[in-house]
Amino acid sequence: WPKDVGVLALEVYFPAQYVDQTDLEKYNNVEAGKYTVGLGQTHMGFCSVQEDINSLCLTVVQRLMERTQLPWDSVGRLEVGTETIIDKSKAVKTVLMELFQDSGNTDIEGIDTTNACYGGTASLFNAANWMESSSWDGRYAMVVCGDIAVYPNGNARPTGGAGAVAMLIGPKAPLALEQGLRGTHMENVYDFYKPNLASEYPVVDGKLSIQCYLRALDRCYTSYRQKIQNQWKQAGNDRPFTLDDLQYMIFHTPFCKMVQKSLARLMFNDFLSASRDTQSNLYKGLEAFRGLKLEDTYNNKDLDKALLKASQDTFDKKTKASLYLSTHNGNMYTSSLYGCLASLLSHHSAQELAGSRIGAFSYGSGLAASFFSFRVSQDASPGSPLDKLVSSTSDLPKRLASRKCVSPEEFTEIMNQREQFYHKVNFSPPGDTSSLFPGTWYLTREVG
Ligand code: CAA
Repeated sequence: WPKDVGVLALEVYFPAQYVDQTDLEKYNNVEAGKYTVGLGQTHMGFCSVQEDINSLCLTVVQRLMERTQLPWDSVGRLEVGTETIIDKSKAVKTVLMELFQDSGNTDIEGIDTTNACYGGTASLFNAANWMESSSWDGRYAMVVCGDIAVYPNGNARPTGGAGAVAMLIGPKAPLALEQGLRGTHMENVYDFYKPNLASEYPVVDGKLSIQCYLRALDRCYTSYRQKIQNQWKQAGNDRPFTLDDLQYMIFHTPFCKMVQKSLARLMFNDFLSASRDTQSNLYKGLEAFRGLKLEDTYNNKDLDKALLKASQDTFDKKTKASLYLSTHNGNMYTSSLYGCLASLLSHHSAQELAGSRIGAFSYGSGLAASFFSFRVSQDASPGSPLDKLVSSTSDLPKRLASRKCVSPEEFTEIMNQREQFYHKVNFSPPGDTSSLFPGTWYLTREVG
């Protein structure tokens, strides 16, 4: 099988306009700090009616192909993960064929995968599995994930966002998926779902969704740890796996505060499985919580506080940098985790990252979740695949800074327009293209 299958290159797309969360707090008459401190969000990107999931994905794929300068026929598999469904039958993947078919390349496997925010990860696993199987034809795979995350007026609205990420998958990758190390948890729950086909908005039980996310994290981490410890044991190394074995940790990010609590939660998992001696040295302030069971602690505010304090340095070192895009753009559903990966790369040098292990937690409501990891290549020399990948993300802050700030009034008006035009056929969106970055795909007419 090909060695070190993983991410060779990636491209991120986000809308050219955002609303400031401080302005939104005032507009929504909530206490100052609720969105910016309580949720950890500073800005939220959003799409006008001229953008849909097809335009987002077309733009991000075209840009990745232009950046890598690969011939269009070098891709043999294209997978799309999204929960922004605008057609119950026709896959976004088929729309993306528009880009490939001019080159004559129609021999491309893969279609769309949907389960809330997990579709991108399922697509990544499918692409890697294809490459490591007898079906592989020697070409690259591409994984595209994207979503428009919008909520009705109310307490979930500030946790919206939008964006897409495309990743080129191949062997000898600077970010290789570690084999045999996926801890997965799947369960039937109704924390967030989209039963109303006439609306772009989900039905969401916010508090339940947070509990489900944390429970899935506990289960996936337990199973990942078990698998890596088994691998180590077979190699003659019988020791427990802890957060220290992950130099970086990225999470699906519905809002940034959730991620800080999740990193703290991993520390709590380690604490509960560690010996008493280790606990006193590493887990200061947690003694009072010894003996608790994970499943009894999802709403324990005292524990939350103690964990956030104990894990602050670890969070600053391993995770904070990965939240850059999420803080400024919000939730991107399927692409959120991969936006975090791009942010992490954009805030570290190739030398800093070389040889490290990046843990990743993917969560999709409903629910499907996995904990897995990337091994970063050792070679960080100028011009190496790792150096190229890292350099390609360095313009992220500049690109975010070039967006247009829109008032909450205008944002609300655009959300109302999206409601009005959602799922309308044969309509041409109003407005000019000034709300878009130059050179992006956009909707001129919805067919039906
Ligand atoms: N200053 C500082 N902090 C403040 C504050 C202020 N003035 N006012 C409130 N806060 C804090 C609160 O204490 C709270 O923090 P803690 O939980 O740490 O105590 C935080 O701000 C949020 O306040 P509330 O809990 O009162 O907020 P809410 O109930 O009005 O809404 C929400 C929060 C439930 C997350 C809601 O935004 C929501 O439903 N969002 C969508 C669902 C979601 O994102 N779920 C996450 C897990 S599911 C998932 O990951 C899939 C996915 O992508 C959707």
